[in-house]
Amino acid sequence: MSAYLQCIEENCQKKISATAKAHVCPDCNGLLDVMYDFQITDPDKVKQTFQQRRLSNDPLDLSGVWRYRELLPFCSDPAKVVTMQEGNTPIYEAPHCAEYTGLKKLHLKHQGLNPTGSFKDNGMTAGVTQARLMNSRIVACASTGNTSASMAAYAARAGMKAVIFIPDQQIAFGKLSQSLDYGALTLQLEGDFDEAMKMVKEITEETEVYLLNSINPFRLEGQKTIIVEMLAQRGWKIPDRVVVPGGNLGNSSSFGKAIKELHDLGFIDKMPMVTIIQAQRANPLYKTLIDRSARLIRVEAHTLATAIKIGNPVSWKKAMRAMEWTRGWCDVVSEQEIADAKAMIGRDGVGCEPASATTVAGIKKLIQTKEIDKEEDVVAVLTGNLLKDPDYTVNYHQNNLYEKATYKNELIERKDKIQSTYANAPLKVKARKVEILKVLGL
Ligand code: F0G
Repeated sequence: MSAYLQCIEENCQKKISATAKAHVCPDCNGLLDVMYDFQITDPDKVKQTFQQRRLSNDPLDLSGVWRYRELLPFCSDPAKVVTMQEGNTPIYEAPHCAEYTGLKKLHLKHQGLNPTGSFKDNGMTAGVTQARLMNSRIVACASTGNTSASMAAYAARAGMKAVIFIPDQQIAFGKLSQSLDYGALTLQLEGDFDEAMKMVKEITEETEVYLLNSINPFRLEGQKTIIVEMLAQRGWKIPDRVVVPGGNLGNSSSFGKAIKELHDLGFIDKMPMVTIIQAQRANPLYKTLIDRSARLIRVEAHTLATAIKIGNPVSWKKAMRAMEWTRGWCDVVSEQEIADAKAMIGRDGVGCEPASATTVAGIKKLIQTKEIDKEEDVVAVLTGNLLKDPDYTVNYHQNNLYEKATYKNELIERKDKIQSTYANAPLKVKARKVEILKVLGL
């Protein structure tokens, strides 16, 4: 089975070797896809193989990415695969969230239950495996925190040096702590994610360092399995819609490619719609879509959901394509809507980081605008673990969350308070039995 890279631009479509160290098309700078001459003739048989592998203890079969390897056949040497049993994430029914949004039923696929706590692990196992196939020794990424945590872990497993570029003071501590512990060289850059991304792109183009942001198409091959695993878990019952947060737009891009390929190969006979939700003030894709612009409308991004604080997303054209293929759409939600939706996801005993809560907030909004019917079969993808950003959660529950807060060693200014609609603040109680019983009402 041969894999190759192909430019996504319709008037280019240049093909290059899968082992070329290129992030973009050498002719036109277009984004690249990993393409295959798939040899699948009987999708039902392949589905059965996926199912049978659940009983196997082979490291590849234990991975929720490589279990589906027929759909990402770029690695012909299983010994080279770098895996931490990623994927394998549950789908939960979420009755509180369903009622909150107005849907009859809602399912949450929790990618935050991956080895490093985010969906990035699905992509990173593929990206680091490709790095190893290319004999790379140093890997790098720009990150709002989760990509860097994941890359640092997988690079450590593979014995590679990891260099991460993060915007200073703008990533959640849970994520920063991971990269430090996993031994990555951590560069805190002045400026935002978009500037960090520009720097890492230039440096990896000019040196032997291998880029592992989602502009790397092998990352997206791994993330396709989020869709494949979700369908396999549902016995291949196709949902009407999949809702996903949009930041650098890698995940939505990979969902589009997965759905298109599964459809073309005969695994599914209809395509679930991909609905992308951005934060209101980090909304370049939404703006571009609404303005029907042929170029990306960049923004200076602001949101407390730091994972998606991105104004110049690299994969926007692939995300556009995902929406086109699946009749999908993009919408935006406010900081208040994100915060309340996150608390509601918590009430279902599930929990997530702020960026993930755009999904439930977005569904609520789209039910109100009648874009989504309340009978629809919807799966929201939660992208990151609750424990990634505990400050946000504790501040919300203590009625202390502000859209704008400036710190210089200590808090010096805060503005635009977010209402803690579903606050569950801790109570201070004297360590005396009678006081505790009084609080418990017993
Ligand atoms: N949710 C979480 C928790 C994320 O970490 C990210 C992206 C997204 C959603 C958006 O996904 O970029 O594929 O559209 N985080 C990246 C990072 C940018 O550096 O960790 P996307």
